[in-house]
Amino acid sequence: MTSQSITHFTHSAEETIAFGRRLAGELSPPLIVLLCGDLGAGKTTLVKGIAEGFEAARAEDVTSPTFTLVHEYRGPRAILYHIDLYRIDTQRDLETLGLDDLVAPNCILLIEWGEKFPRLQRDHNVQITLERVGEEQVGEEQVGETERRIEVTIR
Ligand SMILES: Nc1ncnc2c1ncn2[C@@H]1O[C@H](COP(=O)(O)OP(=O)(O)O)[C@@H](O)[C@H]1O
Ligand SMILES: [Mg+2]
Repeated sequence: MTSQSITHFTHSAEETIAFGRRLAGELSPPLIVLLCGDLGAGKTTLVKGIAEGFEAARAEDVTSPTFTLVHEYRGPRAILYHIDLYRIDTQRDLETLGLDDLVAPNCILLIEWGEKFPRLQRDHNVQITLERVGEEQVGEEQVGETERRIEVTIR
């Protein structure tokens, strides 16, 4: 099995959105995309750019599906489902969500915290990991807290 990885660094939320827009051009449905990284790493911010790249939503209209669990954005090339599994803990609750029903030829699932579940670890096509880098405490101030390393692995 061959997989392909690229790494990109951004220095602001705007740069991450711009990267998402460009990344959208490389993604074709159907896909299951895992978005990995700590709270505040920039997963939802990246989805803003991906949704814009697909002409499915404006960045400002993409918000975290933390409570609603699934947001749907329809574009001419694909339907995006932005899913946040942070609050889902059991395989049973995952099944109740019915993600299987969202997997279709014209659909892309963008899933935050999906790596918690073995099924999604096994079945995803793309993994995107965001990580804060270059953070440094200088006196009272946190320096470089907007730099992110984004690694995209396509299986
Ligand atoms: N380079 C960057 N990329 C993405 N977000 C950044 C960056 N620098 C600062 N931020 C900020 O970090 C926060 C990321 O939040 P969010 O995208 O909701 O993270 P997550 O979905 O991973 O919890 C936002 O407030 C965003 O403005
Ligand atoms: Mg999020």
